[in-house]
Amino acid sequence: MHSNLFRPALCAAAFAAWACASAALAQTTAPAPAPAAAPAAVPAAAPTPPAPPAAQAMYLRSLAATCANCHGTNGKAPEGAAVLSLAGLEKGYIVAQMAAFKSGARPATIMHQLSKGYSDAQINAIAEYFAAQKR
Ligand code: HEC
Repeated sequence: MHSNLFRPALCAAAFAAWACASAALAQTTAPAPAPAAAPAAVPAAAPTPPAPPAAQAMYLRSLAATCANCHGTNGKAPEGAAVLSLAGLEKGYIVAQMAAFKSGARPATIMHQLSKGYSDAQINAIAEYFAAQKR
């Protein structure tokens, strides 16, 4: 069971496509480790194995990118923009602001709704990402 779940992910991350082909065909017709394409034999509640570092970095960048529409690419708002940059802010500050938006303690126009869409773990990761960006 465990190896069934793990093998496609490992293949996609670590080996060239040809190396995966036979193993992937034995598992499923789709080489991607997307949950929707997982074989029916894998229980839905099975714990997901830790994603390889490259996949984690991609996940983190995608999360942070959901803020880019307003706060700029990588949290850098363009010069003169009305919305604040997030790049280079303290991690703890970002986490605290998001919590204050979630609870309604800090007045906001849009951030109340947005902040509620993220788990504490996601906010933590996003805050760490922006704190690491250059201002
Ligand atoms: C639709 C535009 C929009 C998006 C998308 C958006 N924000 Fe905001 N953000 C704002 C606005 C506008 C404010 C000012 C408060 C308000 O009016 O809601 C703000 C304020 C903030 C502040 C306070 C900044 C400070 O210096 O005190 C933080 C932190 C923040 N946003 C984080 C985020 C994060 C993290 C994301 C992505 C998960 C995000 N925002 C996505 C519009 C946006």
